Amino acid sequence: MIEIRNLAKKFGTKTAVDDVSFKVEKGEILGFLGPNAAGKSTTMRMITGFIPPTSGTAVIGGHDILTESIPARRKIGYLPENAPVYPDMTVFDYLAFCAEIRGFRGGKRSRAVEETLEKCFLTDVKRQTINTLSKGFRQRVCFAQAILHDPEYLILDEPTDGLDPNQKHEVRLMIKEMAARKAIILSTHILDEMDAVCTRAIIISRGRIVADDAPANLKTRSNLHGAVSLTLQGGDPEAFVAKAARIDGVASAKILEKEDDAAKVRIFPKAPDAALLNTILVALSESDCRASDVFVEQGRLDEVFRRITS
Ligand SMILES: Nc1ncnc2c1ncn2[C@@H]1O[C@H](COP(=O)(O)OP(=O)(O)OP(=O)(O)O)[C@@H](O)[C@H]1O
Ligand SMILES: [Mg+2]
Repeated sequence: MIEIRNLAKKFGTKTAVDDVSFKVEKGEILGFLGPNAAGKSTTMRMITGFIPPTSGTAVIGGHDILTESIPARRKIGYLPENAPVYPDMTVFDYLAFCAEIRGFRGGKRSRAVEETLEKCFLTDVKRQTINTLSKGFRQRVCFAQAILHDPEYLILDEPTDGLDPNQKHEVRLMIKEMAARKAIILSTHILDEMDAVCTRAIIISRGRIVADDAPANLKTRSNLHGAVSLTLQGGDPEAFVAKAARIDGVASAKILEKEDDAAKVRIFPKAPDAALLNTILVALSESDCRASDVFVEQGRLDEVFRRITS
């Protein structure tokens, strides 16, 4: 388990991280979300022992990062922001070097490097110097360094930054596959990614935790949660909207946009209600409009994120 206890960091008079506490168990993938400058990277740097906290600490698998830094760091794999790697080394030499400082020798070292090269799709470029790699490949080399020693705890600062959609998908799959045996914290600005990968999300704003919940639960905090969206063709959409607004349990109904013969309509419930869709469809069948698209909104993370952090 990773246990973060009252972690705080001040740079001069500026508070970057303000009394942050949480725990992450094995099997969990914790998404760390927040606007730019919220304190995500600073928190990760403290958890991994890269910078000392002003107060508080992190305990990694029973080892306090301040008092038992080496045993704690042995258990951690860390992908820092912006993939800091040695540009003059070849991919192979860099990973062999990382393996060596992680304590691998001889055949074990070669095996760890080759396996990691393969996992991270780097075998074809292993003899290339890092400064000749594209941004996405450099990111993958840094990711490879983080997982090389099969650590119990993974701290990944924007792991899919700079990757193309296929590689994003591969890295997400890899993270999910590894999760059963590890506790993983990753930061991301991509809300869909958090939804697809993370079992839990912490939203941080101005150095403080402002939400800690499963992505699905966070979505239910969206104003859109439970709203019914329809695309109507023909007929009199204004009349349908007026009728829908009078349905029991409906808070409001409005036309979002109209184009040619089509109108996008959204109906907001007073409270999420599974039976509401059916009532709306009955009202629709009694109107002169036809629907080409109907769906119940689960809620949107971007809307929740904006509301919580702004
Ligand atoms: N070494 C430093 N000296 C002074 N201020 C710093 C230092 N490192 C970080 N900060 C400040 O701390 C705050 C938090 O920065 P941090 O890098 O943790 O944000 P972040 O949440 O990772 O943002 P982003 O999404 O842009 O990566 C920022 O205001 C930043 O300017
Ligand atoms: Mg950052």
